Amino acid sequence: MVKTFDILVAGEINPDLILSGEVVPSFGQIEKLVDSAALTVGSSSAIFACGAARLGLRITFIGICGDDTFGRFMLAEMNTHGVDTSSVLVRPGGQTGLSVILNRGTDRAILTYPGLIPALTADDITDDLLRRARHLHIASYFLQTAIQPGLPNLYKRAHTLGLTTSLDTNWDPSGKWRGFDALLQQVDVFLPNEKEALAISKAKEIESAIQQLSESCKVVVIKLGADGAIACRGKEASRIPALKVDLVDTVGAGDTFNAGFLYGYLNGWSMEKSLSLAAVCGSLSTRAAGGTSAQPTLDEAMKYVTFSG
Ligand SMILES: Nc1ncnc2c1ncn2[C@@H]1O[C@H](COP(=O)(O)OP(=O)(O)O)[C@@H](O)[C@H]1O
Ligand SMILES: [Mg+2]
Repeated sequence: MVKTFDILVAGEINPDLILSGEVVPSFGQIEKLVDSAALTVGSSSAIFACGAARLGLRITFIGICGDDTFGRFMLAEMNTHGVDTSSVLVRPGGQTGLSVILNRGTDRAILTYPGLIPALTADDITDDLLRRARHLHIASYFLQTAIQPGLPNLYKRAHTLGLTTSLDTNWDPSGKWRGFDALLQQVDVFLPNEKEALAISKAKEIESAIQQLSESCKVVVIKLGADGAIACRGKEASRIPALKVDLVDTVGAGDTFNAGFLYGYLNGWSMEKSLSLAAVCGSLSTRAAGGTSAQPTLDEAMKYVTFSG
């Protein structure tokens, strides 16, 4: 069957309201002025989808939003970025989620109202939809609670239909980091950051975390912020530094990194070259506020990729 899309993203849909400057609130009805405010594409999954589309991958998205201002904003933005949203489920009467990001230098605090973020289930993702894509990517595992029980079986269905799979759990707000063993066995490319990899593997240092996670997943890539990233496939290991950039904010850096890595993976590149493109994409995305505004095109990113093959 001819595949219409490179990646099906099953994910959450919410805008980010980003406030930057001296953003620590003071209660007692104290009003403070901040340096900047922006309403941007939020959600790890949607930022990933926009970043992958920007690199030239054909992306379709399934998720649930409300028929409300935030939902309409997100669908319009995703369409503008070239993401197919024809499978998104719009729930009249439901409320689209929102994240408020308080940005202070390179650090940030996030307040999220989930709304419909947890609502997508594995049954919403039909075999017909899976058949249209080459690869299935899921992000924000811990926020998408309704999809969790069905996820191992969804990844199995995807494999049976010839798709490869990837997962970026992102942070677990509950701090429990549970429910992983059956799922990780089905993940071809696992993309946590350093803190997440340590929490999930219960390892003390990153080298043992990557070894341990590699026993379940074919490829493990761990993002190390300003220190770049490491990757492991079987016995093959690789490390790449981040690119030095004039940093504005790191919102969505990990998601844009994922887009770069999966571009290489789906085009049959070596792990080193995929990792290099990933790190370049992550770093370049930090040049402007929000997750999507500085995501590079392939031509722009390739100027910094040093590997061939
Ligand atoms: N301060 C930074 N300077 C340059 N590049 C960065 C910086 N922070 C992140 N990056 C790039 O973005 C990638 C992902 O960032 P990271 O913060 O580790 O992921 P996540 O957003 O998932 O926590 C890094 O591997 C790196 O390439
Ligand atoms: Mg992340």
